[in-house]
Amino acid sequence: MIGIFDSGIGGLTTVRALMDTMPGYDIIYYGDTARTPYGTKSRQTVIGYALENTEFLLQKGAKIIVIACNTASSHAVDEIKKRYDVPIFEVITPAVHAAIKASKTGKIGVIGTRATISSRIYEQKIMELKPDAKVYSEPCPLLVSLVEEGWTKRPETTMIVKKYLQPLKTKQIDTLILGCTHYPLLKDTISKKIGGQTAIIDSGSAVSGAISSFLSENRELAESLPQNGKIDFYVSDVTEQFEKTAGAIVKKQIKLICVKK
Ligand code: DGL
Repeated sequence: MIGIFDSGIGGLTTVRALMDTMPGYDIIYYGDTARTPYGTKSRQTVIGYALENTEFLLQKGAKIIVIACNTASSHAVDEIKKRYDVPIFEVITPAVHAAIKASKTGKIGVIGTRATISSRIYEQKIMELKPDAKVYSEPCPLLVSLVEEGWTKRPETTMIVKKYLQPLKTKQIDTLILGCTHYPLLKDTISKKIGGQTAIIDSGSAVSGAISSFLSENRELAESLPQNGKIDFYVSDVTEQFEKTAGAIVKKQIKLICVKK
């Protein structure tokens, strides 16, 4: 099984992308809804949560781990790789590759949680591959909670998105990385506010290409993974809102299994 985790609902954008690009593979998802958001927590706390989530997925039979959360990817990927000897995917590197490919002017914007933006991981990775790039980053701390709350179409959310994107608009970026897997759920609003000509890179989806290439190069592992199209959804707290929004993202009715930590 492919094990995927996020602090909440955002990682379902990765689940959806995997369902589209590699249909059939069994998936086990864990949304840490009781402890969301991660983006306002300290590095040590996020590392602790990420290790627990990985352990949970491995115990449930995952053979590959996908950290479908930029915050956990930026803080915890090295620790997870140190402790577990299974393929681990994070969402940042694939998004960086996609952004560099998409950008013509090299002016790239990044939005994410406070934790992701202050880690400066996107700048570092972009500059390693394209030293002449100009990277402009903005933390958008309120957006995760608005998405978890299901407020994706509210006028208040549109106003907040506009305010967050204003500094990036003045920099005339031609590519914007959604450096948080919750943000694709606000993609239409973000695209409208930043301007339709700006390429939008979705970190949650970009990772599906990396997983798919990895599995075509590692046939033995790929063939050992069950492919019955089964998806198990685990959460650390059930809320009515999560159930509704989650079903809409993966476009099927889902049954949440709550596990208390
Ligand atoms: N989806 C997570 C991310 O990509 C949200 C983090 C949070 O819970 O604040 O960063």
